[in-house]
Order: sequence, then structure tokens, then C-alpha cells
Amino acid sequence: MTASRILGTGHYVPPRVVTNFDVMKMMETSDEFIVERTGVRRRRHAEAGIGASDLGALAARAAVENAGIALDQVDLLVMNSITPDHADPGCAFFLQGKLGLSGIGVFDIRQQCSGLIYGISLADHFIKAGTCRHVLVVCSEVLSSRIDGSYDGRNISILLGDGAGAVVVGPSNDPRRKILSTILHADGSGAKALYTAAPGSALGRKEHLTKEDLDAGRVYFRMDGKTVYENGVEKMAGAIFESLQANGLTMDDIDALVPHQANLRMLEAIIERTGFPQEKVFVNVEEYGNIASASLPIALSEARQAGMVKPGSLVLMVAFGSGFVWGSVLARM
Ligand SMILES: CC(C)(COP(=O)(O)OP(=O)(O)OC[C@H]1O[C@@H](n2cnc3c(N)ncnc32)[C@H](O)[C@@H]1OP(=O)(O)O)[C@@H](O)C(=O)NCCC(=O)NCCS
Repeated sequence: MTASRILGTGHYVPPRVVTNFDVMKMMETSDEFIVERTGVRRRRHAEAGIGASDLGALAARAAVENAGIALDQVDLLVMNSITPDHADPGCAFFLQGKLGLSGIGVFDIRQQCSGLIYGISLADHFIKAGTCRHVLVVCSEVLSSRIDGSYDGRNISILLGDGAGAVVVGPSNDPRRKILSTILHADGSGAKALYTAAPGSALGRKEHLTKEDLDAGRVYFRMDGKTVYENGVEKMAGAIFESLQANGLTMDDIDALVPHQANLRMLEAIIERTGFPQEKVFVNVEEYGNIASASLPIALSEARQAGMVKPGSLVLMVAFGSGFVWGSVLARM
């Protein structure tokens, strides 16, 4: 069985910086509230007309170049977005067209902030099974298109940023450098703690979308902040211990913890709960806000660029998202 490894990473964030003071022009909030409750100071927002596949294509090309392979060596594309280009077909098809990868298999996965964890797990299994050699996993979000400044929408809207991250997973020719484990979890009983009701087929009527859905704000995220916060801390902290135990390791063995950048307070609570050494935890949420599935691959890519993750580093990635969906990837880079 061929072991798999993360061969390359890449990311792209749009250039326009949106400060908390800019957000204050969009809704009733304050810099003080945002910084104190979430730690976010800035985020990036794409210009109108830029879709998830546009950002995703830039991140994907960077990851492929970083992996040192040619694009046509990719034989499976996995895409995750909660802000796809169109309602259907999946965003992977639009990304595939932009990358000129016609003919290979593609997956759209809907794992919210845990897209990278699930994507790497799929890649790892396809490679180990010998079905594929190079799997490109792309997570891309244009969350600025889903900002709702109303009283009900502002608790999450303050967090939202745009960006894309990608990884290339391929066969490892060094027995030490490999993906050691991918552990996946979900609990659909929490699905409505953070969700968007419309459009949908379970709205108690025939139409998928009505003008009333727009007027009532059903097309926007609705979040029970406390429930999401508490579950996020518990599940990501649990995922850290679970991965260490499954691999017979301790925190001392880990060179870098790269968590989903949900919000700074959540990350601080996870560090406190696990006792993970703070200097080993990569954090960029102050700069980018929460970019859903793109947060984790962007963080991994930046951690590598910053030299915090080097060839041979043992990296633990954990994520949690709406669904609820969570899990971990442990990889020797
Ligand atoms: C979003 C979050 C900061 C809100 O804090 P909270 O204390 O749970 O907020 P609540 O919704 O209970 O509201 C508390 C008060 O803050 C207010 N509030 C909420 N959002 C606000 C905003 N953007 N600006 C100003 N006030 C706000 C509420 O109106 C409420 O005031 P009220 O009691 O006078 O009505 C917090 O819940 C959180 O961090 N949750 C996790 C969210 C997250 O990371 N999600 C991503 C998941 S991957």
C-alpha cells in the first residue's frame, strides 16, 4: 500500500482589506465588540463578480506549483465551498473548467469548515487504494456575498472573510513523511445551530425559493452563537486528544497545531482546555476573520511560508464546522 503525503500547499486571498470600522458601516456593531468577542481585526472581501471557483483556481495553481508537479498530473479534484458559484451543478465542475482538467473525476463535498479534513481523508484513501496518484483538494469561500447586517445576522456576519486554500496529496517516496491518520466525525442533531434555511426542499411548501424567503432573511446564516462556540471548543479539543491517542503520541511530539480559524476566543479556549503550548499553535484569524473551509488550508499554507511548518514537521490539523462536522489530520510534512 502506497503511503500518501501532502506534497504542496497554496492559497489566495483577495487584496481588499475590510477593517472592523468598515464592518461598522454595514451593520450595528463596534470594533470593541468584534475584537473582544472574536479577536478579528481585518478580513478580505473579494470584488463583486468574483466567484469561489475564481479564488479556488488561484489557490489550486499555487498548490500544484508548490508540489512540483504539472497540473495534468492531477487525477482527482475535491472541492469544498459553502459559497459555490451557482446553486448547481457543484462548484468543482466550474473549478475543473478553469483549471483545464476536463476528464478527471471530481467531488463536491459539503463539510463546511471541516472541508480540508474530509478532503485530505478522501485523498489519502484514494491514493492508498491505488486508484489515484495526485489528488487536488481545494477549499474556497466568498462569504462576503452572504453578509446579513440585520439583528439576527450580525453575530456571524462580523466574522466573515473571503479566500481560498488548496493542497496536493500524492504518493510518498519517503517512509517517514506521510499522512499518519485522518479521523472524521459528524453529528447531524446539531445541524440547525448554524444553517441557512432557503433555498430548500424542506420548507413546508412546493417552491424552492420565494420572495418571502428573501424578505424574512432565510437565505442567510442563522447561528446560535453559544451552542456553536461550546461545541466547537469541545469537539476541536477532543479531536486533538483523540489524534494523539490514536497515534500513541503526546503534545511534545507535535511540531505545529494548525486549527480551523473560527475565532480567537475559541482558539484560546482550546489552548487552555488542552494545555497545548501556545507557541506551537498557528493563528491568523485576526487578519482574515473566519473563511469557513478556506481558513484551514490558508493557515497551513501560511504556516509553511512562515517556517513554522518545515519538511519533516509533524503537523496536527483540527477543524469544526456547521453540521456539526469535525475531525483531525495528522501528517509528517
Ligand atoms: C458570535 C459571538 C461572538 C456572539 O457572542 P454571544 O455572547 O454568544 O452573542 P449572543 O448572540 O448571545 O448575543 C449577546 C449580545 O451581543 C449582541 N451581539 C451579537 N452580535 C453582535 C454584533 N455583531 N455586534 C454587537 N452586538 C452583538 C446581541 O445582540 C446580544 O445583545 P442583547 O443581549 O442585548 O440582545 C459568540 O457566540 C461566538 O463567538 N460564537 C462562536 C461563533 C463562531 O465562531 N462561529 C463559527 C463557527 S465555525
